[in-house]
Amino acid sequence: MGSTGAPGVDRRSLLGLGLAAPSVVAAAPALAQSPPSPAAPPDWNRLRGQWDLDWSEVDLSAMLFAANPKPVREAVARHRAALGRNPITYLEANNRRLQNAARVAAGTYFDVPVEQVGLCESTTAGIALVYAGLDLRYGQEVLTTVHDYYVTHEALRLAARRNGASIRKIALHEGAPGASAEEMVRRIAAAITPATRVLALTWVHSSTGLKLPIAEIAAALAPINAQRAPADRVLFCVDGVHGFGVEDTTLPALGCDVLVAGCHKWLFGPHGTGVMIFSPLALSRLSPTIPTFLSPGAYSAWLGGYDPGPADGARMTPGGFKAFEHVWSLAEAFQFHQMVGKAHVAARTRELASRLKSGLAAMPHVRLATPADPRLSAGIVSFEVAGLSPQAAVQRLRTWRVIGSDAPYSPSYVRLTPSIRNTPQDVDFALQAVAALA
Ligand SMILES: Cc1ncc(COP(=O)(O)O)c(C=O)c1O
Repeated sequence: MGSTGAPGVDRRSLLGLGLAAPSVVAAAPALAQSPPSPAAPPDWNRLRGQWDLDWSEVDLSAMLFAANPKPVREAVARHRAALGRNPITYLEANNRRLQNAARVAAGTYFDVPVEQVGLCESTTAGIALVYAGLDLRYGQEVLTTVHDYYVTHEALRLAARRNGASIRKIALHEGAPGASAEEMVRRIAAAITPATRVLALTWVHSSTGLKLPIAEIAAALAPINAQRAPADRVLFCVDGVHGFGVEDTTLPALGCDVLVAGCHKWLFGPHGTGVMIFSPLALSRLSPTIPTFLSPGAYSAWLGGYDPGPADGARMTPGGFKAFEHVWSLAEAFQFHQMVGKAHVAARTRELASRLKSGLAAMPHVRLATPADPRLSAGIVSFEVAGLSPQAAVQRLRTWRVIGSDAPYSPSYVRLTPSIRNTPQDVDFALQAVAALA
């Protein structure tokens, strides 16, 4: 069992009365298992008391940058104060222990052993480390799509300048609202060639909010990979940031080889934190780019003048001194999420997003870009408003104190992204504001 269950913690006292979580890092077993959600969801209105937000704003932008719930804020403050008092001795006593506790907590969430978990500072940084570290060479190919975000495309382009591999982008659909899971899987499987070594996808597209059927895509890759030696298999790498902290799943259930996600969005974790989750096959095909401070073996190898051997999650975790008070508070963010319950988070996010989508679908001046089907969408709701650019629509919504965003994509959409901090009343208020844009 994972350590984040924090024996003795009363969930009602944490979530109902707003008490801080006790330390979650006492014991850090190497093998984690994703625990079941509590039987009942929390009282969502009381849960909002965990955030110190300006409630005069309706913040529908969890997909951008998180505010932290109380246990995370308190952990960050506790570590910052202790570093202010005893920077060296507190660092020495806690650094490896707390970074490893964060890795165990992430492993518990994703149901993988700690050795398969690396830490990074953001989705962007993790994606770059993965694509820079893959064993690609000239004559080999990365398959991605035209729908992926700048971060995936640019990290692949920069890596290809060094390793000489080629990048091919395909379309998965002719429009997200009409996309079908079967058709997307079919197009991907049909596009794999003998040269393809990496499939680089995004779990939930941050332009349209379309959620890809990751498990079905992994299943379609299995027979192709069964014919290949491990070094030639198609590694399935996913920018998972907008599914992580929303969907109730694990790495084995998703079936991909790499999943990278910032923790400072839907998980409401400390700013500047992220995770990289690897399959054993992925680790066998990756090299670190930034020297780690986390793996004792790496230091011994340097001192002894020998190769430290294959990569693992610790070696993939960049070293250097950093905003330790944030990294060290990551386990509390996972614990908070787990105490709410992954299944309850997923159901609540779906409920709010579906309410928003059906309200928008009924407005003649609005065209939804996100599929209505929760199997093909998560918490991102994207749309166009007739006669207004996405930027203008976002600004007009802000005059109502409804906080959405537009994305740097072409085409761009207005995005409202309800999360567990929001209520059905928030969604209805946002719908009123969008109705007023007619
Ligand atoms: C799909 C996707 N990946 C990555 C990012 C960047 O995430 P981070 O801020 O964690 O680097 C974003 C933007 O928010 C995004 O939409």
